[in-house]
Amino acid sequence: MTRALEDAELLPLADALADAGWHSGEALAAAAGVSRAALAKRIAHLEDWGLDIEARAGLGYRLATPLARLDAAIIRAALGAGTRARLRAVDVALRVDSTNQRLLEAPAAHDPQALFAEAQTAGRGRRGRDWRSPFGANLYLSLAWSFAGWPPQLGTLPLAVGVACARALAAAGVPGIGLKWPNDLRVGDAKLGGILIEQRGEFGGACRVVIGIGLNVAMSAQQAGAITQEWTSVQAVLGDATPARNALAACLLDALVEALAEFEQRGFSSFIADWSRLDLAAGHRVRIEGAGSLLEGEACGIDEQGALIVQTSDGQRHHLHAGEVSLRLGPVAA
Ligand code: BTN
Repeated sequence: MTRALEDAELLPLADALADAGWHSGEALAAAAGVSRAALAKRIAHLEDWGLDIEARAGLGYRLATPLARLDAAIIRAALGAGTRARLRAVDVALRVDSTNQRLLEAPAAHDPQALFAEAQTAGRGRRGRDWRSPFGANLYLSLAWSFAGWPPQLGTLPLAVGVACARALAAAGVPGIGLKWPNDLRVGDAKLGGILIEQRGEFGGACRVVIGIGLNVAMSAQQAGAITQEWTSVQAVLGDATPARNALAACLLDALVEALAEFEQRGFSSFIADWSRLDLAAGHRVRIEGAGSLLEGEACGIDEQGALIVQTSDGQRHHLHAGEVSLRLGPVAA
């Protein structure tokens, strides 16, 4: 059975369950034209995709939360005119290994291009980690962008993109967004989303980046599975006021495209004030783990290169360009 055939067979079943109401096995099997045993196999397959499906004797099957699939036409229609004019393509894939990987392998001639996926089978995070990507629950977006020249402050792009995402979430009505250096999107201690920028291009040649964003929208604890760090979702913050994923997707893309144009013209300078306002670590004791090194001190914001400034107990100020920040040490004693 080919993969395309599997998707074509399974999608109608996912859509039949989309309202999160109970559906009897008998009715689902009849609608699909398969036996009850074959239906059970298809349900198991959808669970492998990451759908949270409850089964109960006498009632049948239901999804834990309603499913409204992403739709490229709806996303495009909701984009601002400027974004629509600038973007060459906005696509939605069903399941891919990684949206970043797909765009890294796509022709640069189609840039700027955006790709969303309903699920990723090998979603990747920063520092070689996996990014949990269950079907239909979150947003997984990559945007490929080719800069006309080599931006002098390319190293600050991850921070500028963090600001863009925070702006988008604020515009979508999500309160209390903060950034943990360099660009973890957080609500308090809990991670709401992450950004992974991957680059192709050689120094002196064209500079092409693929900006990957993962945003937890309505992921259930069951779908989150083995995520070990504290996490949250838009749904956990906003409840019934959670915007539709298609609307959030457009909001994110608008803010990203606008921020990239701003970054191209003015570099990081126009993002520093916003980044500093969103900085969750400033004034707190932090521990930074780098490659084989550990530093503890007070976080004192960022410099114009986007480096994190940490003051150690001997009064020295260190400007860190890489490392993993741990905020668990609490505020500095007054
Ligand atoms: C992080 O570790 O905080 C970054 C997570 C980035 C995840 C996104 S999901 C869309 C894109 N495709 C990937 O494989 N990763 C990024």
